[in-house]
Amino acid sequence: MTTSTLNPLRAGLRLPRTPDACALVVFGATGDLTARKLVPALYNLARERLLPGGFSVVGFARRGWSDEQFRAAMKDAVAKFSREPLQDDIWESFARSLHYVSSDFGDMPGYERLGERLKKEDSAHGAGGNRLFYLATPPTAYAEIAHHLGEANLSRSPSGGWARLVVEKPFGRDLESAKKLDQSLGLVFRERQIYRIDHYLGKETVQNILVFRFGNGIFEPIWNRRYVNDVQVSVAETVGVEGRGGYYEESGALRDMVQNHLMQVLALVAMEPVASLHGDGVRDEKAKVFRAMLPVGDVGRATVRAQYRAGAILGQQVPGYREEDGVSPASEIETYVALKLMIENWRWADVPFYLRVGKRLPKRATEVVITFKKPPLQLFREMGGDNIDPAANLLVLRIQPDEGISLRFGAKVPGTRSDVRPVNMDFRYGSSFGVEPPEAYERLLLDAMLGDSTLFTRWDSVEASWELLTPVLDAWLQGASPLRFYDAGTWGPDEARRLVEQDGREWHRM
Ligand code: BG6
Repeated sequence: MTTSTLNPLRAGLRLPRTPDACALVVFGATGDLTARKLVPALYNLARERLLPGGFSVVGFARRGWSDEQFRAAMKDAVAKFSREPLQDDIWESFARSLHYVSSDFGDMPGYERLGERLKKEDSAHGAGGNRLFYLATPPTAYAEIAHHLGEANLSRSPSGGWARLVVEKPFGRDLESAKKLDQSLGLVFRERQIYRIDHYLGKETVQNILVFRFGNGIFEPIWNRRYVNDVQVSVAETVGVEGRGGYYEESGALRDMVQNHLMQVLALVAMEPVASLHGDGVRDEKAKVFRAMLPVGDVGRATVRAQYRAGAILGQQVPGYREEDGVSPASEIETYVALKLMIENWRWADVPFYLRVGKRLPKRATEVVITFKKPPLQLFREMGGDNIDPAANLLVLRIQPDEGISLRFGAKVPGTRSDVRPVNMDFRYGSSFGVEPPEAYERLLLDAMLGDSTLFTRWDSVEASWELLTPVLDAWLQGASPLRFYDAGTWGPDEARRLVEQDGREWHRM
């Protein structure tokens, strides 16, 4: 018998993943996130029969809707945003589990009505008192909602069931506000009840970083400072602020993407192996990575921030950030960030990690690029023609779109000379698996119902990430790294190029 069949934890990973009966309460049920992501994800879970019997959704929001109005709005949302087309029979049976409670978030009687509704669900469907509260609201409402859930005795489930709270980003806007928010949630919920969602962790390709590193024997031995020259995590978006100018003015790219999504991806790339995927192993190792990061130090030299001006993307004229709705014409908010981080541990000392993210760039692409060191003797340097470094070994993890992994190495050009040219070994999810991956929210909602918090962010990581980035925000306010500008449809400001060039590196061409 092999070790894996003896090990109940590992064997458990293959058990069917159907949660216990439960009720999902969505605060902010009439909002964008519910319509675009949450309900389409639930519909797809229902379609794949992954929701438990006795599952129900209770939407909670201010608008005076009935159950029927909520169902009709959600049907439209699924028709518009679901990855699989709306199918009437599946919809009809799913829609029966949708309910609605209309209330202000600060209105106690609303929470009492919610409690009554949940009791009804418990007795009608045997939901066993299991509740998942999802905060799909502006973050300013989080503390108030948590407080009222506590007052209404909803934060501890009756009858031995569970109560969990799912919190969307942003989790605070700097270290101090994140701590304050954590404290107010902590008055009502214990850490193990809190699921901080980062939808990048629900992406198949992001989860595959761990499989790639630790499910294969050949990459881990070279995944360290002896062999790796630098690591780049890049997120390029073609979209602008998509009507969210008001939110973005309070946020900017560092808070919107770097503090959460990019730092989480970086932690998966840099963390040590775990002994088991169960329990807190992955989150412990990620937290250690954050703790080993050096403070950014010289913010002027190690960070670049910029904002897009008007320009053209894919042949279409688009306005500059300052002309977007809800944005001040004198806004100093960054829509592009590039920065360099160092991890001071045994594995990574002296290896720079470069992060960059920007809106209105020429194409949509998210990737992690590991550049390996050159061979000790460059025998073929003279034969690379115009290529500076024909044999540079790059490993590119393409997170989205065109999901896949490619490894670049130098190969001999056929012919009587010994010319060398870079070529790629390529893996594509599409052609290898032929199925479309589920949406991140499908996986994450299911995990939250199952009580598996591996793919959710623990407080210590959030805190460590803010500890690192809050001084950057402060230094920016004091004028370090002045705001630069780039035309929409270009790859960002020249200073970003210089950030890596000053270390003798270059950004990978996406
Ligand atoms: C969100 C940000 O968290 O992630 C958006 O608030 C951004 O500004 C989005 O556009 C990107 O997500 P994805 O899954 O499209 O890469």
